[in-house]
Amino acid sequence: MREKIRYHLGEIQNFNTTDREELEQFRIRFLSKKGIITGLFDEFKTVAPDQRRELGLLLNELKNAAQLTFDDIRQHLEASVTEQKPVPDLTLPADFMDIGSRHPLSIVQDQIITIFSRIGFNVAEGPDIEDDWHNFSALNFEEEHPARDMQDTFFVQGRPPFLLRTHTSSVQIRMMEKTTPPIRALFPGRVYRNEAISARAHCLFHQVEGLYVDRNVSFADLKQTLLYFAREMFGENTGIRLRPSYFPFTEPSAEMDISCFICGGKGCRICKNTGWVEILGCGMVDPAVFENCGIDSSEYTGFAFGMGIERTAMLRYQINDIRLFFENDVRFLRQFRSAF
Ligand code: PHE
Repeated sequence: MREKIRYHLGEIQNFNTTDREELEQFRIRFLSKKGIITGLFDEFKTVAPDQRRELGLLLNELKNAAQLTFDDIRQHLEASVTEQKPVPDLTLPADFMDIGSRHPLSIVQDQIITIFSRIGFNVAEGPDIEDDWHNFSALNFEEEHPARDMQDTFFVQGRPPFLLRTHTSSVQIRMMEKTTPPIRALFPGRVYRNEAISARAHCLFHQVEGLYVDRNVSFADLKQTLLYFAREMFGENTGIRLRPSYFPFTEPSAEMDISCFICGGKGCRICKNTGWVEILGCGMVDPAVFENCGIDSSEYTGFAFGMGIERTAMLRYQINDIRLFFENDVRFLRQFRSAF
């Protein structure tokens, strides 16, 4: 009897089918009232007492195995019936797909980068959380400079104090510290200033700054580079004008205006009837900044500039509220679908 049970166990373990009829045959053969297992249980009644325990266990094992195999295959067959999907109707109209658009700040940032990359500028990025050295001290800000004040700068708690960078000039410092000139690079990124939020100002915005360091870089190079940029960005008839200004890290420093691209200089609402709109700050890198970064200021000169991306985008697309950039209202964003 032991051999018979073992034989059937092997048979059951090797059984598998995808055919319902074959499965039914299996059930009848093993599990029905006249099946093999019932027969074996009858035979079991005659087994000698000293073998009952062992054979009883073996017989139960056989019964369970047959039941499990049967249930398992049946479940499988039923599942595969429900999995059969109806053939799709290929004549139905396609699902509506809403095409996204790029954010206007990304569009303008990419335009600026593309224009400068044509004349050899590459792109560098740095951390949003900065130390005092890279954001202020290395850039020649006096210890008492008002920009260092809590009112303008967000500080991050801790010792030494960290802060949210107020401009991407910090990345210029990082680059000059580890690069031997020539340097020609752009520094795009998010910056933070502790300002009351209004239609004109936000506590965060984006900048692209630029830096050019080499032997014999002059103010004329700065002017020509920025004129090229203004014409590429705002149209070939654009004029520029430089007004003297002050930044701790450049000397001389200037603010650059472009002739109003809306009225062509005649005077309108955008240029507040002056014919000019301010677009960026710039200047020749102060020799003290070079020395702070380990660049020999008797050998190298350079120029730097910086502009706000929001401001540029607002002018370009005539957007009158800076907060729109950060609200992610799809009705606003959709309008830039066709912008390049
Ligand atoms: N860092 C200045 C700012 O945030 C911009 C600037 C950059 C001015 C480089 C001059 C030269 O306003």
